[in-house]
Amino acid sequence: MQLAKRVETITPSSTLAITAKAGELAAQGYDVIGLGAGQPDFNTPDFIIDAAMEAVKNGHTKYTPTAGLPELKKAIVDKLKRDQQLDFEPSQVIVGNGAKHVLYLLFQALLNPGDEVIIPAPYWVSYPEQVKLAGGIPVHITTGEQSQFKITADDLDKAVSPKTKALILTSPSNPTGMIYSKEELQPIADYCLNHNILIVSDEIYEKLVYNGNILLGCTNFRESETKYRDH
Ligand SMILES: Cc1ncc(COP(=O)(O)O)c(C=O)c1O
Repeated sequence: MQLAKRVETITPSSTLAITAKAGELAAQGYDVIGLGAGQPDFNTPDFIIDAAMEAVKNGHTKYTPTAGLPELKKAIVDKLKRDQQLDFEPSQVIVGNGAKHVLYLLFQALLNPGDEVIIPAPYWVSYPEQVKLAGGIPVHITTGEQSQFKITADDLDKAVSPKTKALILTSPSNPTGMIYSKEELQPIADYCLNHNILIVSDEIYEKLVYNGNILLGCTNFRESETKYRDH
């Protein structure tokens, strides 16, 4: 079967390759610690399983509104208020099947052919592939130990071109575990605001922090985001 040309440009996920290899070695009896896919070593907690089973038994098995169940969207709005002190309307919330799905759809909705998306490296491996699938061009900013794997507004300025559409920020980061502080995020947010660059903020690991730092960072960053939206 001949697949579409755009599929041929996609690089297979190295995370999944490592995970498969670790599984293979474990099956052969090796003592393996897998650092590939972020799979918890415990089962889904019982209260979640029970609630899901209860919902199915109660007939929640039908089509939902495309953008998500109203009560779920309301719960997300409440979460953003509680944790980030931000005001959103349910109409501004879209629910998807996980971050990978939502990010894919986002780039499909945002990018025209040739639009550039800045991705600080190292990065979660799916970002560039999702950008390419949408006809966009990933532009990497290399970071290292010296900069604690963070970018600054100056780094951004060097990577930006008239084609730049968006910047992906992941804090806390996969794979480095780095977290931006409020002071570090502000100039980046201001730069994007002034240069009409969208920030795609992947906060999937928001709760995987052990010092409370991220809530401050997110709140501040979100203030700029709100400013941007209203701009
Ligand atoms: C930074 C980052 N964003 C998004 C995802 C995808 O998340 P989901 O499992 O919700 O599709 C991952 C999963 O590894 C990730 O590390």
